[in-house]
Amino acid sequence: MTSSRGGRPQRIGITGLGMAVPSKVLTNADLEKMVETTDEWIRTRTGIRERRVAEPGTTTSDLALKAAREALEQARLDPKKLELLIVATTTPDMLFPSTSCLVQQRLGASSAVCFDLSAACSGSVFAIITAQQYLLSGRYRNALVVGAEVLSSFIDWTDRSTCVLFGDGAGAAVLEPVKRGGILATDMGADGSAAELLYMPGGGSKYPPSHQSVDQRLHFLRMNGTEIFKLAVRRMADSAKRVMKDAKLKAEDVECFIPHQANTRIIEAVAKRADLPLEKVYMNLQRYGNTSAASNLIALYEAVRDGVIKRDDHVVMVAFGAGLTWGSVLLQW
Ligand code: ACO
Repeated sequence: MTSSRGGRPQRIGITGLGMAVPSKVLTNADLEKMVETTDEWIRTRTGIRERRVAEPGTTTSDLALKAAREALEQARLDPKKLELLIVATTTPDMLFPSTSCLVQQRLGASSAVCFDLSAACSGSVFAIITAQQYLLSGRYRNALVVGAEVLSSFIDWTDRSTCVLFGDGAGAAVLEPVKRGGILATDMGADGSAAELLYMPGGGSKYPPSHQSVDQRLHFLRMNGTEIFKLAVRRMADSAKRVMKDAKLKAEDVECFIPHQANTRIIEAVAKRADLPLEKVYMNLQRYGNTSAASNLIALYEAVRDGVIKRDDHVVMVAFGAGLTWGSVLLQW
């Protein structure tokens, strides 16, 4: 579908949510058997107790498809009527074609325009804002955004400083024009000067796959955790404050904060810096670890499912990831 569509809606909201995680649970006790670590270290430094890990052969599009189907069903949107499909991922099935094209085919969403979005852990927030802009312009009438990752394929399972942090999963949201509520303010930012703080060097044009690249372990995620920690706190707190200011709301007017689910200590520091009461900050990272582009959508899904977010509540989603990238969405549910 490529034609432009006239009428411009005022407000865009989320009309359906979905999520999918692999059934296999990897606990901190399991990790104690794999690397020199302890359940106590992982819990106190990160808050994570367990994460989901895909079985070999399970792809990012497998998880994305499940989450996408649920979100479309919830929105009562026939896949054939879907106009825009964005998959945010750092771990696509292949470098090309895009994972969104693979999901489109399996969904039967033959009218949808598809592309992937690369913003690492900020992926789902960036995808929501991108879809919102297309819908506000009147170009498309509906959109499906999916954040999906099989990070376990790109984790060095001998590196205790990274392998304890991440998990696999997918979250999805349908966006459409709404008459009440919807997205009230957004914020996005990026800083490529700190790109080397979190990256995977191998497999692209810089270090194409070779025996050497495998021997040098270039096909695994690398991270400077301490620096990432500090920047994540500053950028997420400032971004959350910016959307509240733009929407002319104060922290007390917001019922629920959905931060990127990386680490309880990062989230607590963000809450302190942005004056957000911790009891309003939703966390499920203890069960899933950091699922990167899927994290905010999985958290939103569970917060809505469990009645933490109710109709008319104001919700701030805030994310931070490799790039560096960061962003926020303030919406009324
Ligand atoms: N088990 C036991 N010890 C460990 C482990 C582990 N799994 N990992 C590291 N250590 C050791 C280190 O080797 C170090 O030992 P040393 O002092 O002998 O060298 C010691 O623990 C302390 O390491 P630090 O890095 O100082 O620990 P810190 O308190 O900073 O916590 C952590 C590390 C959890 C990685 C933290 O820096 C962090 O969360 N950073 C953010 C990383 C992140 O979330 N990245 C995700 C992507 S970006 C995002 O999503 C926001």
